[in-house]
Amino acid sequence: MIIGVPKEIKNNENRVALTPAGVTELRKHGHTVYVQAEAGKGSGFTDDQYTQAGASILPTIEEVYGIAEMIIKVKEPIASEYPLIKENQLLFTYFHFASSEPLTHAMIERKAVCLAYETVEKTDRSLPLLVPMSEVAGRMAIQEGAKYLEKPMGGFGILLGGVAGVKPANVLVLGGGIVGTQSAKMAAGLGANVTIMDISLPRLRYLEDIMPANVDTVMSNEYNIRELIQGANLIIGGVLIPGAKAPSLITRDMLKLMKPGTVMVDVAIDQGGCFETSKATTHEDPIYEVDGVVHYCVANMPGAVPYTSTLALTNATLPYALQLANQGWKQACSANEELRKGLNVVHGKVVFKGVAEAWHLPYTDVKELF
Ligand SMILES: NC(=O)c1ccc[n+]([C@@H]2O[C@H](COP(=O)([O-])OP(=O)(O)OC[C@H]3O[C@@H](n4cnc5c(N)ncnc54)[C@H](O)[C@@H]3O)[C@@H](O)[C@H]2O)c1
Repeated sequence: MIIGVPKEIKNNENRVALTPAGVTELRKHGHTVYVQAEAGKGSGFTDDQYTQAGASILPTIEEVYGIAEMIIKVKEPIASEYPLIKENQLLFTYFHFASSEPLTHAMIERKAVCLAYETVEKTDRSLPLLVPMSEVAGRMAIQEGAKYLEKPMGGFGILLGGVAGVKPANVLVLGGGIVGTQSAKMAAGLGANVTIMDISLPRLRYLEDIMPANVDTVMSNEYNIRELIQGANLIIGGVLIPGAKAPSLITRDMLKLMKPGTVMVDVAIDQGGCFETSKATTHEDPIYEVDGVVHYCVANMPGAVPYTSTLALTNATLPYALQLANQGWKQACSANEELRKGLNVVHGKVVFKGVAEAWHLPYTDVKELF
């Protein structure tokens, strides 16, 4: 198959959908790979590295879209890319159709085959192409939190791990899923006193078993949250209710209970945030203060560490990309239910229920495609 990797052109997107290692794998299976010039630059990969791995470099995005049967990307195509997409072309990338009506209509019109990373789903209902980004964001939340706890950055002025004779900081993690687990591990590793809260007792039991001694688990409810935020220096918001807006677990009135200079990192901001006072921020201007509490609410945290994020993402996407290239989308999706769940818009038909419902479009059962 002929595979094309365009350079991401969305603002501040430095990830790339395929590494030189991925090119080598695809070439080993007999596929041809075209990479747009400088596509890997933001993630630290040179055109030479891609060439040595067996890819051909094309100077323009038009040439990449023009020649490829399958386009592998990171972010959804933006408006300037719409006219480049060909009928029957397979696009394997994050789409998030339910949050963009223009994108949905554009892909219907282009009659492409749109396989969305975010809806590829395993039989245990986990989302294997979202997990790596939650891992990155969860770990990064502690790094960012530690930074903004420094006095010159507006924080309380406390070191997460303390030193001999001085107590460490208290870190409260709301949600014990992927983000919360990674945050707790990082904070614990730095020597902080960590508490994870979740509403799932089986999850708390699991975390209690695997976490080091400086991590406690506590049932998440309003009473316990009110009590614990009073002693917290850093609070991480990592809750998720699938398909719904995140619940406001820390309300505005609760901020008065906290110490001035407390830092709150709302990782769940992409689902509306789990603090009432959260509003999305960017890497250029990541924080703001409400009632003396520092809020960090960057909606695309992994974008700040493109090297790590690219490798984490491509480790997860490559096996699927290989299947698609080896078998073609129709056979691969017919044989593999995980991939089939990724199909959202195919040849002008919406085959993912959530997308059809979001934009009041006719829905076609994916089974009708096979
Ligand atoms: N900002 C970013 O850059 C970024 C990056 C990656 C992920 N995220 C977001 O982070 C959030 C968490 O993702 P995840 O992969 O960890 O999800 P997950 O499903 O693995 O974990 C969510 C956890 O929240 C728990 N939960 C639900 N309601 C709760 C409540 N009231 N109190 C405490 N816990 C509760 C669930 O039981 C679950 O364990 C998602 O909204 C995700 O989209 C943001």
